[in-house]
Amino acid sequence: MLIILNHKMNLTIKEIKAYEEAIRDYNVVLMPQTPYMGLFTNGKYILGSQCISEYNATGGVSVDALVHLNVKYVLVGHFERRNINRDTDEIIKFKIKELLKNNILPILCISDNEENNHLSLINQIDNVFKMNEINLSKILIAYEPINYIGTNQNINLNMVKEKILFIKKYITENYSTNNQVLYGGSVNSNNVTELKELKIIDGLLIGSASLNINEVINIYNKINNWNLLNHKI
Ligand code: PGA
Repeated sequence: MLIILNHKMNLTIKEIKAYEEAIRDYNVVLMPQTPYMGLFTNGKYILGSQCISEYNATGGVSVDALVHLNVKYVLVGHFERRNINRDTDEIIKFKIKELLKNNILPILCISDNEENNHLSLINQIDNVFKMNEINLSKILIAYEPINYIGTNQNINLNMVKEKILFIKKYITENYSTNNQVLYGGSVNSNNVTELKELKIIDGLLIGSASLNINEVINIYNKINNWNLLNHKI
């Protein structure tokens, strides 16, 4: 099971240095704030990025920088970026192409309201999967129900199961690939065992709980079927 730690815009330089030392022996994917990424060179962890830019201009994050930092995974289409940064379908497609060209695995985040029919998920999947000349099997999906992102709620496990099974079936039937599907939204050490026991989730995308190193270690210890090697390119 793949554990992705998405720090968003959190932690001071002092806090992140202590975090880096404490996480060295753990097989997790770390996504610190971009200015801290160069600090993550010493551990068993794998470095990921919260973003890549669609433009070549001041303030962006280039794919070349990510390649040289040995970044293996990048989030694309996170709900917050679709809504706050206005990442459009076109931008999302461009980023995925750039990443795959450079042997970095994109994690395509897709979100909906838990009570929705599947149309919105289908649109978000089709937008990317209808592209030609990309290796679809290299794309990871992260399903995040909107109301659970950053809210630390009790997770409706039946809903998660239903949505993840739908996503897997839809992609297999329509695109003939078996993509890994992660879950994100309100994951913490109290619900991680139940999520794992659904036996259909290939990984977790963890925001708030990833900021507390003890919480990360608790989560890690509750999950023991590590499968990171499958994701090497
Ligand atoms: P959360 O965030 O774990 O704080 O709910 C998840 C995410 O935004 O990816």
